[in-house]
Amino acid sequence: MVQTPPVQSGIEATAVKAAAGFHTEAQSDKIDDLEFLFTRAIEFRQETIYFIIVDRFNDAQSSNNEGPNAALFDPTRQKWGKYWGGDLQGIIDKLDYLKHMGVTAIWISPLFEQVEDLMFEFAAMHGYWTKDFKRINPRFVGVDESTSLATCNVFNRLVKEMHARGMKLILDIVCNHSSPDVNGQKGKLYDDGVLIADFYNDTNNWYHHNGEVTDWEDRWQLENCEMAGLADFDESNIDFRNYIKSAIKKWLDLGVDALRVDTVKHMPLWFWQEFNSDLQTHKPSIFIFGEWGFSKPWDRGSVNFANKSGMSILDFGLCEAIRAALAKNSEGGFHLLQNIFDLDHLYDTASELITFIDNHDMPRFQSLNSDPDTLRMAVILIMTARGIPCIYYGTEQYLHNDTNGGNDPYNRPMMERWDTNTQIYKDLQLFSKLRRLNPAISLGSHVQKYIKPDIYSYLRRYRDSRCLVVMNKGQATTIDISNTELEDGEYTCIVTSRHFEIHNGKLRGLSLQQKESVVLSYVGDRVKGQTIVRAQLNGITTQYGEIVVVVGDCPELGNWDISKAYRLEYINANTWFGEIPFTESAGKAIAYKYAILSNNMSPRYENLVNRRWILVDRGTVKWRDNWAN
Ligand code: NOJ
Repeated sequence: MVQTPPVQSGIEATAVKAAAGFHTEAQSDKIDDLEFLFTRAIEFRQETIYFIIVDRFNDAQSSNNEGPNAALFDPTRQKWGKYWGGDLQGIIDKLDYLKHMGVTAIWISPLFEQVEDLMFEFAAMHGYWTKDFKRINPRFVGVDESTSLATCNVFNRLVKEMHARGMKLILDIVCNHSSPDVNGQKGKLYDDGVLIADFYNDTNNWYHHNGEVTDWEDRWQLENCEMAGLADFDESNIDFRNYIKSAIKKWLDLGVDALRVDTVKHMPLWFWQEFNSDLQTHKPSIFIFGEWGFSKPWDRGSVNFANKSGMSILDFGLCEAIRAALAKNSEGGFHLLQNIFDLDHLYDTASELITFIDNHDMPRFQSLNSDPDTLRMAVILIMTARGIPCIYYGTEQYLHNDTNGGNDPYNRPMMERWDTNTQIYKDLQLFSKLRRLNPAISLGSHVQKYIKPDIYSYLRRYRDSRCLVVMNKGQATTIDISNTELEDGEYTCIVTSRHFEIHNGKLRGLSLQQKESVVLSYVGDRVKGQTIVRAQLNGITTQYGEIVVVVGDCPELGNWDISKAYRLEYINANTWFGEIPFTESAGKAIAYKYAILSNNMSPRYENLVNRRWILVDRGTVKWRDNWAN
């Protein structure tokens, strides 16, 4: 992720103004204009994301179904490539259903205006064949409504209703391409209704013209050739870059809180670095994650992207491992998952990866394995393991269609039931609350405690908060967990309400039914302070027994007295993290650096002139630092 600017959250700019040395009125006004510099406080790790394909979720307004071209709509819902009627009002009508289930953020499939023709039997119901990034798909809004963003009532209402419920809106965006050849037209692109580019008449060089990718290992091809015939933007064209950034900024201005970015693998890193930092300057609170198709921790490209682009990524590696271990019963079982977690240290922020068990590009989990209890284990797993969980729409209703193995497009059925009593619905309710309550789950380390192909136990740990999870996908059995790191005492499993005794840190004689999950949670004290800095330090290697501290020129950081420095938490072999409370120094300029303490040696300080920062007066901010050798 990018290094954040050394000033932050502007809930209260006044104290910062003084600290920054802006004294005259005129200068003072200036710093108000610089409000954008103050906030980089977005914390998405407590969210529970729900991914909706708009067309397939809920049809509230039948009048908009035919849109500009009735041939693209199938009222019988038999033709899987055509529109079936879902719209934004349909989402608004189901917000209470989602909120009640524990959903705190909704990823909405792309809303941009799409090409209005069929390619074979397929319309752009998915939203990935854009015609105009500044207009909204007419089928998603009221029939008489403007499709121009600024005046689109229903979108504004959606944002308002979501925010009123404390929910965040994640917009799916595409920067890599516009549309494929549909009826002899390709890449015809509009700027709020005005034609600005055309693949077949590309006088202003908006597109690459290098044919289809043939070698998926060739980075140049990935970035410069086409994928499935989609007109591929030439990012070296500044007009294109200005257009796409200005379009997305318009959506951000309307209240979009986060972005899911399509096909990030197909554009160069420098493009994303520029794009993300521009957007983050425009809206500092934005959280962004990208789709690096089939990323793996051992694929250097995807890890490098996650660490350097300024956005997080979808965790395809874990998704595949969960599907293999649980849905397909592959050899190795839970070891397949642990193999992924063992490489978490390669990422600067593994706890910000977006975790999922299926999506719109692969068969639904239940098309691989229809057993509801296996699905339940997979859901509990992503709700409690490291990362930010994302649930594909309908999972809670066991929605799946297994035609052709459940592959695209059969992984996109219409949502039909809204039962608030399904087991998965209730589990999501419970675990979403737990994620918010117990910081060990959202922020903490993920440590294996017991593993066999059929049994997996892991501990989430942060300060004195703990969450111990045990799962059994095999036959009923009894195990001992010798070092739970839980305080001795009695615990009640939040899934089964069974009681367990921890004695000398051990959990002995733990009987597990087939497909049973046990979750024991202990919530310790939360960090309180007027201003909280979430400090993350990467690129540091410590030996067992060593601890990392932050020391600085203010009382909260020990006034350079290393014995009073603030201690961080070990997350993994690359990451230390901590929430540092500031009250006395809130709103002031401070200096700090990191140091390593070990028992027998003198402290090892970072090798750099002190880091300097202006603390916001109140609120939460993040430091993302790299150890300076
Ligand atoms: C990835 C999306 O998830 C997929 O559904 C889409 O077809 C391609 N990117 C192209 O945009």
